[in-house]
Amino acid sequence: MAKTVLITGGASGIGLMLGQKYAKAGERVVLVDCNREALDAAVAELGDCADRVLGVCADVRDYSQVCGARDRAVAAFGSIDILISCAGGAERRICRVPGEFHEAPIEVYDFGIDLNLKGALYFDHAVMAQMAKQKSGVIVHLGSITGEEGSRDNISYAASKSALMNGMTKSIALAGAKYNVRCFCVAPGPVKTRPGADKMTTLIGRAAETEEIADYIMYLASEKGSFVNGSYHLIDGGRSVMWNKEFY
Ligand SMILES: NC(=O)c1ccc[n+]([C@@H]2O[C@H](COP(=O)([O-])OP(=O)(O)OC[C@H]3O[C@@H](n4cnc5c(N)ncnc54)[C@H](O)[C@@H]3O)[C@@H](O)[C@H]2O)c1
Repeated sequence: MAKTVLITGGASGIGLMLGQKYAKAGERVVLVDCNREALDAAVAELGDCADRVLGVCADVRDYSQVCGARDRAVAAFGSIDILISCAGGAERRICRVPGEFHEAPIEVYDFGIDLNLKGALYFDHAVMAQMAKQKSGVIVHLGSITGEEGSRDNISYAASKSALMNGMTKSIALAGAKYNVRCFCVAPGPVKTRPGADKMTTLIGRAAETEEIADYIMYLASEKGSFVNGSYHLIDGGRSVMWNKEFY
């Protein structure tokens, strides 16, 4: 039976790739994004699967919009079987604020926490209510190698990703267990969704193709990945073992 997959940040990058792949695999897809233009283009591109694809323009930082997106998904398709929180990004890059950590306005860091941490928490909270009724579901967080390495500039991004990878993924897995809801986190290294990704070094010598990340998430979220719960999984081309140059 077809599943309903809700993807935040679904109008671009990894989220868009996931939406396209799930739709082509016959699943029902809800793309949630705050960029209406990009969202409309993403939905239009999936014209062949139009009866199984819904675009919802919503900001993950606004809990009432999050609940509205959940309600529209359930009204359209009757369930939410997989939630993948892709919406996110480094606050200083998105807000285009240069300078030292302490020179950037504090609002920039609030924005980073709201987008990367609270956005995922809001969706987990809203969608868990539905998954608890269904007594099944899979929740996927997107972490980052930055959650391991830290970042001189994007402190909120690094802190949020660490929190997602550890405390939040474990806690949501604990909260979901009695409802047959599992939760895991996939933490990519550099991905070619944006220019410059290839400048970040990896042991393999390149950034990831977007499809490599999407395929890994889809495997872990499928029945084949059903033993994966409460844990985070780096997919980083070996970047995390490059701290000691004597080793390679
Ligand atoms: N690209 C990488 O190198 C990389 C590396 C590690 C982790 N990640 C993580 O993977 C996820 C996806 O990354 P990507 O490169 O595909 O991103 P992307 O920038 O291509 O896409 C992010 C999408 O999220 C949407 N979005 C942003 N703010 C939003 C909000 N407030 N509400 C709703 N939607 C919002 C954007 O409009 C965009 O469509 C992110 O969480 C990112 O941190 C990416």
